[in-house]
Amino acid sequence: MSSYTMKQGQQPGQQAQRRITPTFVLMNMARERLAKTKYKIMVLSGKGGVGKTFISSMLSLALAVKGYRVALLDADIHGSSIPTMLGIMGLRHTASEAGIEPVKAPLDIKVVATNLLLDTPDTPIIWRGPLVSKAITELLAKVNWGENDFLIIDLPPGTGDEAITIVQTIKDLDGAIVVTAPSILSEVIVAKAINFVLRNNVKLLGIVENMSYFRCPKCGSVYQLLGKSTGEELARKYGTRLLAKIPLDPYIGEALDKGVPYLLAYPDSDAAKAIMEMTDKLIEILGAEKAGGEAREENQ
Ligand SMILES: Nc1ncnc2c1ncn2[C@@H]1O[C@H](COP(=O)(O)OP(=O)(O)OP(=O)(O)O)[C@@H](O)[C@H]1O
Ligand SMILES: [Mg+2]
Repeated sequence: MSSYTMKQGQQPGQQAQRRITPTFVLMNMARERLAKTKYKIMVLSGKGGVGKTFISSMLSLALAVKGYRVALLDADIHGSSIPTMLGIMGLRHTASEAGIEPVKAPLDIKVVATNLLLDTPDTPIIWRGPLVSKAITELLAKVNWGENDFLIIDLPPGTGDEAITIVQTIKDLDGAIVVTAPSILSEVIVAKAINFVLRNNVKLLGIVENMSYFRCPKCGSVYQLLGKSTGEELARKYGTRLLAKIPLDPYIGEALDKGVPYLLAYPDSDAAKAIMEMTDKLIEILGAEKAGGEAREENQ
């Protein structure tokens, strides 16, 4: 809802007065809290199950491996799964005088997720849209984010309340990564997410095609298990770039089952290499300064 309103007696054309609503206050708090985070990127797709959470988590890990300070917001309120992807389901947020403290994942990634606030992770969140939006704004406003190079935001499928709240609250988003998978089914729905990004004047950083192909570990043959590739076509159509084609890898499921982050457990896999290359491309596109660690090493 707009926080501008016509006052009684105000003539059309007269400057609108800003009504100070609780949401307006929270949004401003959120902007202040994130003022020391350099790059803010959202990961979305129209389609469910294409690997948004996997990409958000692995991108965060890859950035942290390169020495960047990373925060990761799980904005999928109903289907929060970042904690599982990073193997931190047993941890919980704590409160300090500075606010809600993020949970530290491997490589010091600061994770914020509603599931890490619940008594048990299987407690359902039974909220309608307005409550979901409020929860996201409150998290952004009340978490002690501190200083970060990157904030990565994992969104649920679609372009609903969560995505709208993020683009309305974080006015200085640095861009969006749209995840697709092979098959015409993905192509049509993912295009909706691309249009959402463009209509909200968010920079489309590029497209990631996940589950792109499967390479037989025995014979090396490549199979298009899910159908026709969609990433190149979408990138061409919307004037952006394909950031990566990430293959299907059964070890991703195995790493999940063991509660270990895939990128750290299988750094030499094709998928992990594709994720590292995608991260390099992204850093180049954003023109991100070198991480403190790397810069220090070079100066020695
Ligand atoms: N490249 C891949 N190879 C094999 N498994 C994968 C790959 N990418 C993701 N997965 C698995 O596919 C499942 C769906 O991935 P993920 O949860 O990241 O999708 P999502 O788009 O976030 O889903 P949702 O729409 O529910 O939020 C997970 O079990 C994940 O481990
Ligand atoms: Mg997800």
